[in-house]
Amino acid sequence: MAHQEASDYPAPPEYGEFKKKMEKLTGIDLNAYKYQIHRRTHMLMQRWGMKTYEEYYRTIETRPEKLREFLDYLTINVTEFFRNASKWWEIRDTIIPGMYKELGHQRLRLWSAGCSTGEEPYSLAILAIETKISTPQPVLAADIDTGVIAKAQEGIYRTQQIASAPKEWVPRYFTALGNDTVQVKKEVKDKVKFKHMNLIKDKFDSGIDIILCRNVVIYFGQETKNTLYRKFLEALRPGGYLVTGATEQIFNHREIGFESAGSFLYRRPK
Ligand SMILES: C[S@@+](CC[C@H](N)C(=O)[O-])C[C@H]1O[C@@H](n2cnc3c(N)ncnc32)[C@H](O)[C@@H]1O
Repeated sequence: MAHQEASDYPAPPEYGEFKKKMEKLTGIDLNAYKYQIHRRTHMLMQRWGMKTYEEYYRTIETRPEKLREFLDYLTINVTEFFRNASKWWEIRDTIIPGMYKELGHQRLRLWSAGCSTGEEPYSLAILAIETKISTPQPVLAADIDTGVIAKAQEGIYRTQQIASAPKEWVPRYFTALGNDTVQVKKEVKDKVKFKHMNLIKDKFDSGIDIILCRNVVIYFGQETKNTLYRKFLEALRPGGYLVTGATEQIFNHREIGFESAGSFLYRRPK
């Protein structure tokens, strides 16, 4: 299947040059992604009637809205508060209380790796408040895309984005702005530190208790995924958890060093 798809979109030598220049411009190594990226690049070029990679690169380099479009198309920023809600209630009701018991304190560090426009780290911040995590700024949020980070820092959302939040949390954690939009309250914002980061290339902190990396690795090749999961293992404290997206089973988790702790939940052995 991969072979058939790849040969439908044969990559000419100029694509190699395009990838190199894009990495210089954005820090994103397109080689780390699967073949769909070439196909997606090709589709965007066709959409704009561009015949050469050189022409497309020059457009991206000089027109910020075209760079934005390329990144949007590449990374797909779709997200929402408390996405796949049952996992969130498991974190609140089982994982965090279990850690308190085990550690004998409530100082936890949580990380949303690939945080997009902020819904995931702010959901973590709300859980941190609800479960009384005592770390002053317990949530680290990182993304490669500076545009989504800027949007996250504003913290303004359509009400449909918070549809999975329990009703009583809406007035508690959000200010209604009218026009079907809300803004996360300062108390929630203050719990999150945003950081621009390329998960593939950059160094990670250590001693983290829970890492969420959900719906991020979808376009990464298997080698890139393995490297990333190994980095997550190192970043966790022994006994810490990695939560993946609702379709992102890590089949080789044992080989990487994780133990399975439930569905889409992996633990660094103690
Ligand atoms: C679909 S969103 C997922 C948001 C959230 N985790 C969720 O599950 O709702 C994927 C995010 O991963 C980010 N991303 C993709 N590749 C990345 C990389 N190499 N380093 C950091 N972030 C990356 C994208 O910019 C995008 O914001």
